[in-house]
Amino acid sequence: MILPDYKEAKKRGKEKVIREDYELDNEFKQIGKGKTYFVKTYGCQMNEHDSENIKAMLEEIGFTEVDDYEKADLVLLNTCSIRENAHNKAFGMLGRLKHLKDEKKNLIIGVCGCMAQEEGVVDEILHKHKYVNFVFGTHNLHRLPYLINENLKTNKQAIEVYSKEGNLIEGMPVKRQNNYKAYVNIIYGCDKFCTYCIVPYTRGKQRSRSKEDILKEVEELVKDGYQEVTLLGQNVNAYGKDFDYPYSMENLLEDVAKTNIPRVRFMTSHPWDFTDKMIEVIAKYPNIMPSIHLPVQSGSSRILKLMGRRYTKESYLELFHKIKDTIPNVAISTDIIVGFPGETEEDFEETLSLAEECKYDNAFTFIYSPRENTPAAKLEDNVTLEEKEDRLHRLNAVVNKYFLENNEKLVGKTVKVLVEGVNTNGKDGMYGYTDTMKLINFDGCSNLTGKIINVKVTSAKTWSLDGEIDE
Ligand code: SAH
Ligand code: SF4
Ligand code: F3S
Repeated sequence: MILPDYKEAKKRGKEKVIREDYELDNEFKQIGKGKTYFVKTYGCQMNEHDSENIKAMLEEIGFTEVDDYEKADLVLLNTCSIRENAHNKAFGMLGRLKHLKDEKKNLIIGVCGCMAQEEGVVDEILHKHKYVNFVFGTHNLHRLPYLINENLKTNKQAIEVYSKEGNLIEGMPVKRQNNYKAYVNIIYGCDKFCTYCIVPYTRGKQRSRSKEDILKEVEELVKDGYQEVTLLGQNVNAYGKDFDYPYSMENLLEDVAKTNIPRVRFMTSHPWDFTDKMIEVIAKYPNIMPSIHLPVQSGSSRILKLMGRRYTKESYLELFHKIKDTIPNVAISTDIIVGFPGETEEDFEETLSLAEECKYDNAFTFIYSPRENTPAAKLEDNVTLEEKEDRLHRLNAVVNKYFLENNEKLVGKTVKVLVEGVNTNGKDGMYGYTDTMKLINFDGCSNLTGKIINVKVTSAKTWSLDGEIDE
């Protein structure tokens, strides 16, 4: 049993990252034969992509996927720690699984992902959720076959969570969600330590994948007919900073663009590391999508300082406008937290004024949620829930106004759309995303799925567009 340890998780050593190839031990190849599985994923794209690896590993050892957890022999929760409600959702699901296990004694239950990296969570699983069969963390996905085997053999809870990131494992199998767009990890971990955020503890030190491994993966996707890649990292702009030779995000973006994959996206970008060269590369290559997620978190320089974001309102705005002025038709989205400890009405008004100035194309807005062991959790959380809710509401009114305004500007224009599938809005038709990540619904056949087509925008709503195919 290896339990998570915060002290270890906080450390940032100078050790070199060692690359290792994934290998499946022959001993495990049949352990899931005849059994079914269900993976429930919470959290960000990183977790979604981890689940793609997890599913493929489960299938390699004989399991088959089912779409209803009640029918599965193995249920795995890939969890998220970012806010309290993510926690509550996962524990709620665990409660349902406990009942299911009362009826289905052989049900195998696993927990992985960011919550598995938390000391408190694992302690709770160990003592209060003894029906959970196995737990592994974000640094040892590749140990999944071993842990299932261990639990089946010994009938004891198998818990293995590394707090210090191990080697960088390449070549894990992957079961992609679809065959036209793909996630590609480029950097793991985060060294920014924003004071409210748990990610640096759950995902460890910043580690970049090699250029060769990334480009090989993208080239294979191109060969397989993929239309879009999203380069993933908690802060993709820090890509390459851990190399001892000069190769950074702008170089990688350029090399990925040159593979001629029709669409390149990347997320997330911390404003601090966004270089002018990156902006130039994005502007230069038509297949790098003009869509940038640039989380601001707050419009108050005082709160930004307390958050440890290392930029001010002014320097953020300078970067924002530089991007807007250099990349034609760029859409910028953001994340904003309201109710950080000590946030006054004046601070919040700075956020509102920034939102008015930036007129974002999309924004994810959150109420601050204290996270175990983070520096902000030690500050007095002195904004009442009522105030936090009121601020969220007022902020949403401002950002929503601009989503609609920006969408309305597109009416009458023809946009390129990667068709994703049949829409679920009740009417016959398809949906897809524009270059700038806007959801668009239009009439069309399902054989368009996975193709990039021209669609003329006919009307705009706050969250989506309607259109018709433009031949
Ligand atoms: N690496 C990304 C963020 C990943 S987390 C970045 O730095 O941009 C996604 C978003 O969750 C963050 O941008 C932030 O707005 C929000 N978030 C993170 N920790 C939070 C907390 N403790 N409470 C509320 N929101 C939080
Ligand atoms: Fe969290 Fe900040 Fe890292 Fe983003 S950059 S993952 S908000 S610590
Ligand atoms: Fe959540 Fe972990 Fe992603 S905390 S947002 S799943 S990195």
